[in-house]
Amino acid sequence: MVGLLGLLRRRLREAGLPEAEALDLLALALGKGRLEALLTREVPKEAEEKALALLEKRLRGYPLQYLLGEVEFFGLPLKVEEGVLIPRPETEGLVELALALPLPQKPRILDVGTGSGAIALALKAHLPEAEVHATEIDPRALALARENAQRLGLKVHFHPAPLTGGLKGLDLVVSNPPYLPAGYRGEAPPELAYENPLALYAGEEGLSVARPLAEEAWGALKPGGYLLLELAPENAPLLEEELRAGSWEEVAVLRDLAGRDRYLRARRPP
Ligand SMILES: C[S@@+](CC[C@H](N)C(=O)[O-])C[C@H]1O[C@@H](n2cnc3c(N)ncnc32)[C@H](O)[C@@H]1O
Repeated sequence: MVGLLGLLRRRLREAGLPEAEALDLLALALGKGRLEALLTREVPKEAEEKALALLEKRLRGYPLQYLLGEVEFFGLPLKVEEGVLIPRPETEGLVELALALPLPQKPRILDVGTGSGAIALALKAHLPEAEVHATEIDPRALALARENAQRLGLKVHFHPAPLTGGLKGLDLVVSNPPYLPAGYRGEAPPELAYENPLALYAGEEGLSVARPLAEEAWGALKPGGYLLLELAPENAPLLEEELRAGSWEEVAVLRDLAGRDRYLRARRPP
């Protein structure tokens, strides 16, 4: 078994991928957990072939999370599947910022473009008293988000609708909208090719969803409510300027753990 694990590690390393993924591939091929896989002495031929096939798929850029079918987000195990955005660590930062806001005891929250349900579910898990809504225009993502909510026993109101879905009286509109400039597509890492372009790209500047969302959010929020967005470092300051020029208050671009301009926060005046 050490031989197979060693081979998987070496091939991943040579391709510039994390060696640690070798154990994930082996565990998946064996249908066991990572520790059990590590302790397996004899790998059946069939599992060895499966591990090598998974390796080849991974080396072609297929995301590990889609192979595993699950990802941990803000401590929650979420199901993921091809075509629906894999929740990213930067988005955990967005959830942290949302939880740090001075929200009322029982806030009404909307997650726009919920994808797998990541943000809405993390917020509901940490704010059980909140009334959490989520919109999404991709039916596949919406079905997955509903499944994740059910698996986790968390109540979120899902709406098959664009942007704010006509909701009103909200204390927080939070979103990780598609925000990559379309021109980035040519230089994107191979993993992105397996995710839905609808979830990634947003016009020339990457603001074709975030900009109208900010406009709609004004009317969807209660006075004193917050808008919190995840954006690309190139376009966060751009939208910041536009919101400052409007009637928003407390407009601020905040940085992610890597020090990049990543989040935009603004408040509708009380
Ligand atoms: C970057 S993904 C974020 C998914 C999830 N919130 C997360 O953080 O992992 C953006 C999501 O917004 C959805 N979307 C794109 N345009 C939208 C729109 N106009 N209204 C609502 N959802 C939209 C996409 O289908 C996709 O699931």
